[in-house]
Amino acid sequence: MKHYDIGIDLGTSSIIMATPQQGIVFRQPTVGALDTRSNTVIAVGEQALRMVGRAPARIEIVRPLRDGVIQDHRMTNELILRFLAEVCPSRLIRPRVAVCVPAAITGVEADAVVESVMAAGAKQVYLVDEPVAAALGAGLDIRTPRGCMVIDIGGGSTDIAVISMGGRVRAASLPVAGNAFDSCIARYVQEKFSLAIGPLTAEELKKQVACCAPSEFEGVMEVRGHSRETNLPARRLVYTRDLYAPVRELAARIAAAAHGVLQSTPPELAADIGKNGILLTGGGSMLRGLAGYLAGELHVDVAIAPDPLHCVARGTAQSLLLGPQLSAGFRDATPRLWRARPLKR
Ligand SMILES: Nc1ncnc2c1ncn2[C@@H]1O[C@H](COP(=O)(O)OP(=O)(O)OP(=O)(O)O)[C@@H](O)[C@H]1O
Ligand SMILES: [Mg+2]
Repeated sequence: MKHYDIGIDLGTSSIIMATPQQGIVFRQPTVGALDTRSNTVIAVGEQALRMVGRAPARIEIVRPLRDGVIQDHRMTNELILRFLAEVCPSRLIRPRVAVCVPAAITGVEADAVVESVMAAGAKQVYLVDEPVAAALGAGLDIRTPRGCMVIDIGGGSTDIAVISMGGRVRAASLPVAGNAFDSCIARYVQEKFSLAIGPLTAEELKKQVACCAPSEFEGVMEVRGHSRETNLPARRLVYTRDLYAPVRELAARIAAAAHGVLQSTPPELAADIGKNGILLTGGGSMLRGLAGYLAGELHVDVAIAPDPLHCVARGTAQSLLLGPQLSAGFRDATPRLWRARPLKR
């Protein structure tokens, strides 16, 4: 399959690619497995994810992004190189690539991402603001002088932004998103039931059982882990009501950050948001009861975008068509010297 324009959502949990014409074309977890003896990357994506908690000591499972920040440049670059080569295998077609980077990324980290994309064979590379991409992908027309508010709750970070005329007017980012919910659930189960559970089990509990509104849902799941009392494998049933406290605590932090952004939003834009409501994107927004909880706390309608996991990737791809109309939310980051270099894989 040949693509000329590719949008990449470089997420803490997943790397997703889309084209403006075909929508989502690629999705893999942002995980790699490193053999520490030979210092080589032996698996990436799904293959590496299957090794989590099951690999021998010499294999290190690396999640190169944490809390919306790049922690491991080498693995990030390796993932971009390998994944982009899968989507665009031809050496003859050099795509224009837009990358949506975490809001908290530094200039040096952005440069490293740009280099990886260029080294993978891109002709040009653009950087896109995550909330701008999320709003575009959710189908909002952000070019008009009308305020809209988007809260992107991913795996590593929650990015809150008020957007008007193609750029952010007010924004905030906090490291409280899907992964923080998983850790908080795991800690809580360990303290309450003396049962140590792995991160994949905690994530499953969040998706299947957890809910921010106790009266809305009652689910149960049998979890298996390691008993802290007997030091042996153990299992027990965990109910929605058991997880209410840890989930609500983190939801309250997201609500407080959104409240702060709303408070500092100029009145005309705040009036638009009051009328049109807030849109949630990102996988974390699918936590049961979260939209309703935020609506209650902020006194504004809150809706989850259709297909929230893919909004950012779709919007990043679309930004390649709308680029010049998006103000600060989109910029050409192609290094000048790279243009003359031969294609390298
Ligand atoms: N049904 C669900 N209920 C609750 N959480 C979910 C559900 N489905 C996915 N998630 C969570 O969504 C998160 C991943 O979302 P997403 O793919 O938007 O993150 P990301 O873009 O990789 O991260 P970031 O934007 O922070 O860099 C994970 O924490 C995952 O557990
Ligand atoms: Mg994201």
